[in-house]
Amino acid sequence: MTPTTPATDLQFPADFLWGAATASYQIEGAVDADGRTPSVWDTFSRVPGAVRNGDTGDIACDHYHRMPEDVALVRDLGLGSYRFSIAWPRVRPDGGAANPAGIGFYDRLVDELLGAGVLPWATLYHWDLPQTLEDEGGWLNRDTVERYVEYALSVHDALGDRVHHWTTFNEPWCSAFLGYTGGQHAPGRQEGVAGVIAAHHLMLAHGKALDELRQRAPGDQLGITLNLTLAEPYDADEPADVAAAQRVDQLWNRVFLDPVLRGKYDDGLAAHTEGMTWRGHAWQDFVHDGDLELIGAPIDFLGVNYYHGDAASGRAHPAAELLGSRIPHPSRPTSSPFPGGEHVVFPRRGLPVTGIDWEVQPDGLTDLLVGLHRDYDLPPIHITENGAAYPDVVAADGSVTDPERVAYFDGHLRALHAAMAAGVDVRGYFAWSLLDNFEWAYGYEQRFGIVHCDFTTQRRTPKASARYLAAVARTGRLPE
Ligand code: NOJ
Repeated sequence: MTPTTPATDLQFPADFLWGAATASYQIEGAVDADGRTPSVWDTFSRVPGAVRNGDTGDIACDHYHRMPEDVALVRDLGLGSYRFSIAWPRVRPDGGAANPAGIGFYDRLVDELLGAGVLPWATLYHWDLPQTLEDEGGWLNRDTVERYVEYALSVHDALGDRVHHWTTFNEPWCSAFLGYTGGQHAPGRQEGVAGVIAAHHLMLAHGKALDELRQRAPGDQLGITLNLTLAEPYDADEPADVAAAQRVDQLWNRVFLDPVLRGKYDDGLAAHTEGMTWRGHAWQDFVHDGDLELIGAPIDFLGVNYYHGDAASGRAHPAAELLGSRIPHPSRPTSSPFPGGEHVVFPRRGLPVTGIDWEVQPDGLTDLLVGLHRDYDLPPIHITENGAAYPDVVAADGSVTDPERVAYFDGHLRALHAAMAAGVDVRGYFAWSLLDNFEWAYGYEQRFGIVHCDFTTQRRTPKASARYLAAVARTGRLPE
């Protein structure tokens, strides 16, 4: 049951953090600047058919050269925090030695943010693994974990005096399962249960970095951001749909939640991957003694990214009844991102959809958070991403009005408020995204920004949704 928000009390706590988020490869451009070397996304975006229209992040929003202007946008909107990610191939090109020129960009960014009165919230990994490390096996190679810890510590060496909020990984599900099982994301590999092995190594890297950072900076806020889903069966009376939903729950939510929050893997994960091997090994062979203690160490916050609910089905449906781009469908052949889940599909439920064909289900956010609160011993939650893509246009008078995105934010903030009223400890909300940007396999076709970006002129235009969020951030209240 979804608790309802008391209509008269739409106030958020005074210290609630309001912000906007971005990620390095999606906005920075300047892929050759100051010693940066290619990441897996530089390589993958050049694979024919991998990204719509052959788009790449070569220029993106040219944020690398326009950073002060972009920080001024955050300041002018009155947002308290800016969540950005750091590009590993700038800081340690090729995954090798530290590169002061590359770190220098983030040094300037942090100073600019602090000068603008904006709290810097740093994500250490938002999918841009140095290509050289992928060539050595990427997240299927346990050595990558050590390389990540070295990288994380060199970032902390440079920024740790001023940055005190750290997200180790953003949406490791995408890196692991879209990257190594489904092939929709870089590095584009389609190797079945390899996704679970990659997930384990990503979480181990989280755990080891957490351990090191905790010793260096005991007062810092350390956490991880997961993209979780409701995993409802499309038809609860259909055993095939119930089984599909359980597979999705295991191989999307619980594969991360249980190790991170309980220090163990759920037995259901083994059941859903029984008999599957990668290069002759079950994924459990990659779990060493002591790994789960590191992975399950306490975190200060859990970042939750929420865009839509999901109703899974294990039965055949006409293509027209499926959510066309629910999981990115590039023009090259890809696999199911759920190992053994070739028959898992997401049929339409008749809900409205955004421009990217994702269902709008704000109640799902309430249900997700209330369910997590019921099932796990949770640290405080931050909604580290929420947002919607629509095909915005700049009007003749130069303005961009995006009423659907305003309605999306408003609906989800009401749903968030309802979860908080039901007892979930939520401390902050970051809109995705500050700017229209490189939307991975969708390229520049999908606009998620609260600020419009003209990719030809690089002109930024705050949309009506930016003004809506600015008002909410200023007052801490949702409009009646
Ligand atoms: C989650 C990812 O973290 C972000 O990079 C992406 O652009 C948004 N979802 C929208 O798909």
